[in-house]
Parts: sequence; C-alpha cells; structure tokens
Amino acid sequence: MSISIKSPQEIEKMRVAGRLAGEVLDYVTPFVKVGVTTEELDKLCHDYMVDVQGCIPAPLNYTSNGSHSPYPKSICTSINHQVCHGIPGDKKLKNGDIVNLDITTIKDGFHGDTSRMFYVGEPSIQAKRLCEASYVAMWRGIRTVKPGSYLGDIGYAIQSYVEPLGYGVVREFCGHGIGRNFHEEPQVLHYGKAKTGPKLEAGMIFTIEPMINAGKAGTKQLGDGWTVVTKDHSLSAQWEHTILVTESGFEVLTLSAGSPPIPA
Ligand code: MF3
Ligand code: CO
Ligand code: CO
Repeated sequence: MSISIKSPQEIEKMRVAGRLAGEVLDYVTPFVKVGVTTEELDKLCHDYMVDVQGCIPAPLNYTSNGSHSPYPKSICTSINHQVCHGIPGDKKLKNGDIVNLDITTIKDGFHGDTSRMFYVGEPSIQAKRLCEASYVAMWRGIRTVKPGSYLGDIGYAIQSYVEPLGYGVVREFCGHGIGRNFHEEPQVLHYGKAKTGPKLEAGMIFTIEPMINAGKAGTKQLGDGWTVVTKDHSLSAQWEHTILVTESGFEVLTLSAGSPPIPA
C-alpha cells in the first residue's frame, strides 16, 4: 500500500470536485443563522449539490467500515462541543453557537472535501479565538506542503502552534488521502514530529483538517454511532481543505470565492 500520485487528468478532475465543495459552503453561508435547523442546512446543501452542481454528496450512506451504520445525511454539522461527524437533525441553531459544516462532493468519480466554522449570531470571545486559532493552525499545516518535505511537518506545525495556546489537538481523527476514494492513504496526523513520516511528492492529494479543542484533546463517540464530542465538553473547532502537492509547493483545491482570507 502506498500514497498514489495523481495524473494530470485526475488532478484536473480533483480541481473541479474541490471547487464545487467550496462553493457549497459559499452557497449555504447566508442560511446559517439563529433558528435554522441543521436538517434544513443538510437539505439545502443536498439539493444544491444534486440539482445545481450535478454532484453526489459523498457522506450520504457512506460506510467507512463494517462496524458503522451508514451515514444518514449529506453533510456533517458539528455544533459547539461536537468535534466531527455530527448528524443534521431538528435542533435549531441558537445565538452564540459555533458550527462546522463539512462538505464532500463526488464529481465525475472524484472527491472534494472541505469544511469551515460558522458563527451563529454573536459567539463568545473564547469561541471566536478557538475558531480563529484553528484556522491559522490549518494554514500553518498547509504552508509546510512541498515536494521533499515530510508528512510529519504538517502535524508539527499545527500542534506546536495550538498547544501553547492551551488547546488540545484531537488524535483519533486525521486528514486523509483523497481521490476516487473518500479516504485513501496516507493518514495525515495533526500532531507529531517534524521530518518524520513519508516524504511528499508532486501529485499527492490529501486533506488537512485539524480538530482543535478548547480543553483537553480527548473525545468520545455518541450512541448514534457517528457524532464525536469532546470528553470534557469543551468547545471544538475544525477547518478542512483538500491539498495538492505541486512541483513548487501546494495548491488548495477547495478554495472558492467565499473562502475566508488566508492568514498573513
Ligand atoms: N468529511 C469527513 C472528513 O473530512 C468525513 C465524513 S464521513 C461521514 O473526512 F460519513 F460522516 F460523512
Ligand atoms: Co476529510
Ligand atoms: Co470533510
């Protein structure tokens, strides 16, 4: 087993799938408001992907392994202390919530995977700080990417930035290779040591998607078989992009018009 190198034709299709995933987030942004349910956001995104973009929502009926029941919805919506894989439901978003929307499209057989944090009304200063730090952390990871650097450089860049702020880096979930499959090799850890792990080569494509907890790093899984929450019930934030290793560095495949500005 090894990390696949995508051909120019495959890379072009990944660019399309990636941009479309970003554009779903752009589309849904004005609907993320006090009083909306995550089920309503799921339906909006589903219909946009299927009817407007001609995409397949990858999460719908996804099974990562035999022990999981198929994922029942088209997007993941993780609120406050939910770390990832929150299932859309009939609970209304309320003022001060922070919510991650995670979108994965399939277009022409290829996957694009991206997520952002959203503020519902006015969040607390602590919540904003956490979301902003997680965004910077993702970009610190992205910026290490170039041929000849190491996969471990990504995790090191993220962990060494957020832990001094008092935050915890989730260990149980990681970024992943992506292409014709939703989850491929390698596993992209968001913690670790610089200059360790596989060397990066042009044509590799993987996600960087750090989950950062305001408290301790520990997580637990809820009885629905999917939703992951912080063990200490502290807030958690996550951002995700799909990244291509280019000859000179990286290309972010999931950027779109509404992507927040890249940190200085
Ligand atoms: N989009 C998630 C990721 O970034 C995976 C969600 S799996 C699902 O890897 F089944 F919950 F959708
Ligand atoms: Co992902
Ligand atoms: Co994702």
